[in-house]
Amino acid sequence: MTHPAESEYDAIAGAYKDSKQLSFRNYIEEFTLFETLGDISGVKALDLACGDGFYTRKLKRAGAREVLGVDVSAEMIRLAEDEERARPAGCRYLHRNAAALVLDEPVDLVVAMYLLNYARDVDELLRFVQAAYGALKPGGRFVGFNDNVLNAPGGTVSYARYGFEKEYTETPSDGDPIVYRFTNDDGTRFEFNNYFFSQGNYHRAFEEAGFAGFHWIDSQLHPSERDNRFWDEFMAAPPVIGFAAVRE
Ligand SMILES: C[S@@+](CC[C@H](N)C(=O)[O-])C[C@H]1O[C@@H](n2cnc3c(N)ncnc32)[C@H](O)[C@@H]1O
Repeated sequence: MTHPAESEYDAIAGAYKDSKQLSFRNYIEEFTLFETLGDISGVKALDLACGDGFYTRKLKRAGAREVLGVDVSAEMIRLAEDEERARPAGCRYLHRNAAALVLDEPVDLVVAMYLLNYARDVDELLRFVQAAYGALKPGGRFVGFNDNVLNAPGGTVSYARYGFEKEYTETPSDGDPIVYRFTNDDGTRFEFNNYFFSQGNYHRAFEEAGFAGFHWIDSQLHPSERDNRFWDEFMAAPPVIGFAAVRE
């Protein structure tokens, strides 16, 4: 049976890829991720829910020895492989549901940029986190980004100047959809759903999977933009948040 996220992303793959050109991706998302990762020279990495390989390639170009990107959407993987053929970065890709992933050899680092907020229920959230745990060597890190569960007001929140808005149910509770509506720089509009889970459920999933030191990482703004008031609204109520944990 087709996984629901597969058909969702097959339909919006090109538009989602283009949304990686919105300025918050570079100045906040990417900056915070690589500040968190630090030196990744020589590591073997897995990019779970890699999409079109945007971060898979960046991890490889930042010095990772090997990077495997995994995504449930065949169309996203096709875009990633097309890019690999056009401009080889040395990445490999696999079309697979992250929840069922079993690797032959463990990795030093698992990155998951916006996977966990695709879980439909707490069991699936746990299976995603367990898959990351199972892929790691002892001492390996699990790092990623997520919908910001610490900032989940009810109703519609506009981040229009950054290219999107989010719509929550009035009082978000576990499993409720969060609708993201994007407008790309070229005016293309598209939307997709994430799913809300309380902080407590995230903490429990990481603990139950066996991770130590799970913590959220606030979005950080690239130093070159610190005096730019354009970012005030985003930074006052960050819509996305990082996280990190270690396999003991
Ligand atoms: C918001 S996109 C992020 C893509 C990429 N990580 C990035 O930051 O550009 C979410 C991705 O998660 C993938 N995804 C959702 N559920 C998944 C699952 N169960 N297993 C693997 N990938 C999944 C979707 O197909 C989509 O490519």
